[in-house]
Amino acid sequence: RSPHIVVIGSLNMDIVVEANRPPALGETVMGEQIHFIPGGKGANQAVALARLGAKTAMIGTVGNDSFGEDLLRAMNREGIDVAGVKTVQDGHTGVASIVLAEGDNQIIVVPGANAACLPMDLEAQTAKIAAADAVLLQLEIPLETVLHAAKTAKSLGKTVVLNPAPARPLPDELLQHVDVLIPNESELLILAEEKGQGLEAAMRSLQKKGVRIVVTTLGAKGAAFLTEEESGVVPSHQVPVVDTTGAGDSFNAGFSYALASGKSVRDAVAFATKVAALAVTRLGAQAGMPTLAQVEQFHQ
Ligand code: RIB
Ligand code: NA
Repeated sequence: RSPHIVVIGSLNMDIVVEANRPPALGETVMGEQIHFIPGGKGANQAVALARLGAKTAMIGTVGNDSFGEDLLRAMNREGIDVAGVKTVQDGHTGVASIVLAEGDNQIIVVPGANAACLPMDLEAQTAKIAAADAVLLQLEIPLETVLHAAKTAKSLGKTVVLNPAPARPLPDELLQHVDVLIPNESELLILAEEKGQGLEAAMRSLQKKGVRIVVTTLGAKGAAFLTEEESGVVPSHQVPVVDTTGAGDSFNAGFSYALASGKSVRDAVAFATKVAALAVTRLGAQAGMPTLAQVEQFHQ
């Protein structure tokens, strides 16, 4: 049986502009290309899960505009259940303005309708959460909604995975309801109380707050993990990088899929590392997410 995962989070239209170099403050540079690519951390993770073969449902909010329609259509095409995505009348669909230059990116996210994803919207979705193996959360919707989602999922006995991105300090109450926390290095340092003692101490300090498993993504250096029984580092794969937008999302989806499929934490990290390696070789967040067949064929 394929794992069943509910993603509660953001949907954005990514307006991606490619240039030879990023503009300095106050400067204008000429760009090369523009792309409108479905994004948003929540939706990216949902698309990555669906391509891996998970039964995936999305809960979130879009505006009543053409971007919102485009995003829903894109998710429908992937076979994602979007019945839990609400369309609001006031407020535009979330937008991310992304500059791609010199192999790196700069992103400004305007949440728009994502800010209207409220705790009460989850009430009608309890059956969906109850039917899932795991719930995957990020921080591009209001924190009170993330907290409510984690509590609801936990009370139903589900595995709660939180990708604390974009970074912000979190209340202890939220961490108590999280099974798996997947920050990157800078997010880890914002969350952890032990800052000067190194990666593992920082990860342990989050475990003390009630998180069972901490996985820290380290970009080109791979990913570090800490469970109650073991810790380790899984190195990344050397690949030609085209676009790192959504790399973290692909990793979170890959890890959640593998863990919900019954893999060990170490094997789930190794699987997620492959998913992310493939995702960064292609342009676009959702556009670049690999299928299960592609991940299984990837050897290095
Ligand atoms: O994680 C990548 C995503 O962050 C982009 O798709 C963009 O929408 C921003 O939310
Ligand atoms: Na990509």
